[in-house]
Amino acid sequence: MRRIFIMGATSGIGLAVAERLAAEGHTIGIAGRKDEVMKNLVAKYPGNVKWEHIDITKDDAPDRMRSLIKKMGGMDVYFHISGIGYENDALLPSKEIATMQTNVVGFTRMVDAAFRYFRDKCGGTGQIAAITSVAGTNGLGHIAAYSASKKFQQTYLRALDQLATIQKLDIRFTDIRPGWIRTPLLDAGQNYPMIMQLPYAVPRILRAMRRRARVAVVDWRWNMLVGLWRLVPNALWVKIPMPVNSLASSRQAAINAAEATSGNARPDTTA
Ligand SMILES: NC(=O)c1ccc[n+]([C@@H]2O[C@H](COP(=O)([O-])OP(=O)(O)OC[C@H]3O[C@@H](n4cnc5c(N)ncnc54)[C@H](OP(=O)(O)O)[C@@H]3O)[C@@H](O)[C@H]2O)c1
Repeated sequence: MRRIFIMGATSGIGLAVAERLAAEGHTIGIAGRKDEVMKNLVAKYPGNVKWEHIDITKDDAPDRMRSLIKKMGGMDVYFHISGIGYENDALLPSKEIATMQTNVVGFTRMVDAAFRYFRDKCGGTGQIAAITSVAGTNGLGHIAAYSASKKFQQTYLRALDQLATIQKLDIRFTDIRPGWIRTPLLDAGQNYPMIMQLPYAVPRILRAMRRRARVAVVDWRWNMLVGLWRLVPNALWVKIPMPVNSLASSRQAAINAAEATSGNARPDTTA
């Protein structure tokens, strides 16, 4: 049983991951801004779930992280799931900058704090896992800040991996890159290509975390697609419109909305 800190455990992927790990009996520390969601999970698993209100865009986030680690009795894995993203063809500064504040500044703040914890308090041993995205593998015009922020995360993890090796630390890094997953992050009124449901995606995400894969694309179809993306020369890439989604019918939109919420509560245990 490992002690796993889940940053961003109040919705979508993070909540489904937390539910599953808590049910398996791991000691988990859950963090985010939606206190009620966290209190409900603690009430369901009072023995092994601890929580803390953490906003990763705030300076006090690393102090709050240390406080939660104390409640957990230590940390073996830091799992960073928090993230936001918008389609923003208008390039509204509020959306582009908020994305950078959360996915770049907040990410760096928390991942660095986890690195220092493993270096200074655990004899240089531990695991830092993060959900980045296939969107980080190339620049995507409709979600420019999001795709660039995910690229930053991927490069930053790679840099810290090298730093850990230079400093002779046994810290493992796991960069999990899913394709689209139906969660509240996505617009319920839209359809997305090759979308996965949480009960399908979460076991694959957890498998990557457990086997401490350095990089894992979820799932195999997305792995093939990003492999193809890499072969496209830049001069051609910028000419591809690359739609992110298409309008769903009102009936499909209702199904999408229901799937986003029901998937949170019922991660599949069979996959
Ligand atoms: N859904 C997809 O298609 C998809 C695909 C690839 C990658 N991802 C990535 O997976 C991660 C989770 O996404 P999701 O789809 O599960 O979205 P979601 O349902 O919207 O969940 C986002 C999580 O991030 C947390 N968060 C956002 N801002 C935060 C802040 N300032 N401080 C602390 N926590 C914050 C939220 O918690 P609070 O609001 O409680 O703070 C929530 O728990 C994101 O990094 C996303 O980029 C998603």
